[in-house]
Amino acid sequence: MNLMDSLISFFYTTLLYLRAVFSLMTPGTLIWKLFQNRKGKINLMSRDLICDSETLINLPKCGKPLDGFTNALCPFIPTFLMNNDKYWKQRRNIFSYADAIINERIFEKSFHFKLETKKGNILWDIFEIISKISFELMFNRIPTENEFNDIYPGLLDINKIIKRFTSTPDLQIRQKFYDQTLMLIKQNDKDFVFNNFTDFYNMDEIHQVSSVAEDFLTTISVQCTDLICHMLLLYSQYPNDFHNDIENSINETLRLYPLTDLWTRPSYGKHRGWIASLVQLNRNGWIQPDMFIPQRWHTKDHPPLMSWGFDIRRCPAQRIATNISKLVFEHIINEENFWIKPAKNFQHERTFPYGCQAWIGYGQIPDDANSWKFNGKFQMQCRRWLCEKFRMIDQNELN
Ligand code: HEM
Repeated sequence: MNLMDSLISFFYTTLLYLRAVFSLMTPGTLIWKLFQNRKGKINLMSRDLICDSETLINLPKCGKPLDGFTNALCPFIPTFLMNNDKYWKQRRNIFSYADAIINERIFEKSFHFKLETKKGNILWDIFEIISKISFELMFNRIPTENEFNDIYPGLLDINKIIKRFTSTPDLQIRQKFYDQTLMLIKQNDKDFVFNNFTDFYNMDEIHQVSSVAEDFLTTISVQCTDLICHMLLLYSQYPNDFHNDIENSINETLRLYPLTDLWTRPSYGKHRGWIASLVQLNRNGWIQPDMFIPQRWHTKDHPPLMSWGFDIRRCPAQRIATNISKLVFEHIINEENFWIKPAKNFQHERTFPYGCQAWIGYGQIPDDANSWKFNGKFQMQCRRWLCEKFRMIDQNELN
């Protein structure tokens, strides 16, 4: 690198860090605001920032995991954090085995739940419903009260770190989650998705538990809840799009609100490590990039949707994730006379650091439904700022 390039890379790195420290935006959103439709790479001091999907897809192939260590998931070893070694291959294989069974189970089941009328944060209500469904899909029955009481707080604790509600894990709660999962695995019930599956039972205990607790229970609960909340918030503005064209409305939801913020990769071979903002990749090169327009998916003349990943590490669960989210979402909105109004002071963002502040009900919509505001926004912003910075340090997000 010559002097000029070094100065430019110093300038961009400083700009990004300073904005990230003082801003309330997630780093991914910030990168989109700063660099918008730039093409190619921007040299940062320790890695490259990849600005568009074409450049990303054309990078030399590499199977390394995207994210680094995160305390959000402790003590589990989710597949997406593993290097592409023999353990990763084993885990992907056993994932595929359960994936096929779960996909059949989704359509055999009928869901029995109703979101209660509520004015406030509906995120945890939906999360609890999906957590039960994730258990049901894995074990083909609803959890007992004791089982759920051991598992659900663990799921909640993980999601609260991800959502910047807290910054450190509650290890006691995680241990209960671990122990309960292990107990269920050892029971090897005939309806357990891995019942008598030798490849699964040949893995070490930590991989068995991580696979069930993290790859399935946690990932289904966290990811599908987020997707459904994004869909509900957009549905409040664009109900006809969701009723008329659910598939493209889901694509458009995931384009605007990808569930991952940043992708980072360490250096490999002769190549520098890189970082990419999914928010930027999904908007760069699109017409009216910030607008919700499901009809844009009717043509193929646009960049690809990056939200499910792009290489051998791409999400192996696209089908079940979409099917679960779609079924639960449709169940909610098709309840007779359902309506939803987000709080007037709530901004719809990629993450949910204030939860999903909406008023939902059935029948007559109250007069003040369009003007209600949620309380405690300032305290939530302060907490979010702190937790976000902790998370950036913990995950080495911008290193
Ligand atoms: C609901 C929407 C979902 C989206 C948008 C999504 C997106 C992604 C993306 C982008 C990755 C790449 C890795 C990364 O970002 O770090 C990934 C990996 C993964 N996802 Fe999903 N996911 C979703 C739901 C699910 C669900 C429900 C499951 C489990 C049933 C799941 C299981 C996995 C696994 C196991 C990996 C790791 C793959 C590997 O590293 O080989 N995902 N997902």
